[in-house]
Amino acid sequence: MEKPLLEVKDLAVNFKREEGFFKAVEGISFKIWPREVVGLVGESGSGKTAASLSLLNLTSSRGKVGGEVFFDGVNILTLPERKLKKFRGRQIGVIFQEPMTFLNPVLTIGVQIMEPMVEHWKISWGQARERALYLLSEMGIKDSERRMKEYPHQLSGGIRQRVMISMALACSPRLLIADEPTTALDVTLQYQIIELLRRIREKTPMAILLVSHDLEVVRELCDRVMIMYGGRIVETGGIREIFKDPLHPYTRSLVEVSPSFERVAWRLPGEDAPFSYQSNIPAGCRFQHRCSRVSRECKGAEPSLKEIGGKGWIGNSFSFHRQVRCWKYQEGALEKDEKPL
Ligand SMILES: Nc1ncnc2c1ncn2[C@@H]1O[C@H](COP(=O)(O)OP(=O)(O)O)[C@@H](O)[C@H]1O
Ligand code: SF4
Ligand SMILES: [Mg+2]
Repeated sequence: MEKPLLEVKDLAVNFKREEGFFKAVEGISFKIWPREVVGLVGESGSGKTAASLSLLNLTSSRGKVGGEVFFDGVNILTLPERKLKKFRGRQIGVIFQEPMTFLNPVLTIGVQIMEPMVEHWKISWGQARERALYLLSEMGIKDSERRMKEYPHQLSGGIRQRVMISMALACSPRLLIADEPTTALDVTLQYQIIELLRRIREKTPMAILLVSHDLEVVRELCDRVMIMYGGRIVETGGIREIFKDPLHPYTRSLVEVSPSFERVAWRLPGEDAPFSYQSNIPAGCRFQHRCSRVSRECKGAEPSLKEIGGKGWIGNSFSFHRQVRCWKYQEGALEKDEKPL
């Protein structure tokens, strides 16, 4: 039986704030198998970026990461920064939500794509150049020779995102973490990047963790999805079962309004973003202020993430359990008058 490529246990991210610590992510555990494409979905502020960047200890200096992250059996969070750096880029590629924050403004994009290859693979700059040109043309960038000499500020948003993807893929990583790879782009470019990711997934054995607030993007690309709310995973399952039979009231409302997932944030009662302060996080279920099924039980104690049903399979090699965090997940679809819209 194949072993998971990534195994995350009890991941937590605490940000130091003036008013004290804010727990942006709490108790997240999951596995990703080789070649699997897994979506992490939730509205803005639910903790997706904090969770995904903390896997490589990349959260800002104010963020403290807890838990264990095993990559190929090694707990990478215990590695010294020097060794962790070797994992980044070589074993795990990252596409960041805001490319400009992570691209170096004073280096040409050519140098930035070539550098990790020279560093990790110890190949010559000439060889790295060949591969950089190949990667850029694979990304559909015309005139890649000229682009290699340009600086990040000279590029449009779409080209910048492709450059980020080229950088992330340069050393053929075994896992790609893509944080909202299409969010900042217009609809045509979004479609092109989705097509690009689809081609990459068909052509390479790489596993992908696709982070998005857009359930439709995840539906297009993923085998499996994890739904996040207020720093917690509230439901997981195969993409088809999540759409066919969502169990958590939050997932139900997302599927209901999909493809315009954005709308759910302001149509659901309660706050726009899940929580911004520690003091906002209620005792009991975190979704209680926005749930039409809330009862006294929900306010008393937080439901755990419960494994339900038998195992699901992706192809014939990876197995997973359906999970849901709700006291009343068995109550069936939301009635008309219960719907949050
Ligand atoms: N550097 C930081 N310092 C303090 N709080 C932060 C920081 N980064 C994120 N947060 C908070 O953590 C929560 C989750 O943020 P984030 O992971 O960016 O959400 P998402 O990616 O789902 O939109 C938010 O409430 C956000 O305000
Ligand atoms: S536990 Fe209660 S409040 Fe929370 S999602 Fe389920 S029904 Fe709603
Ligand atoms: Mg984010």
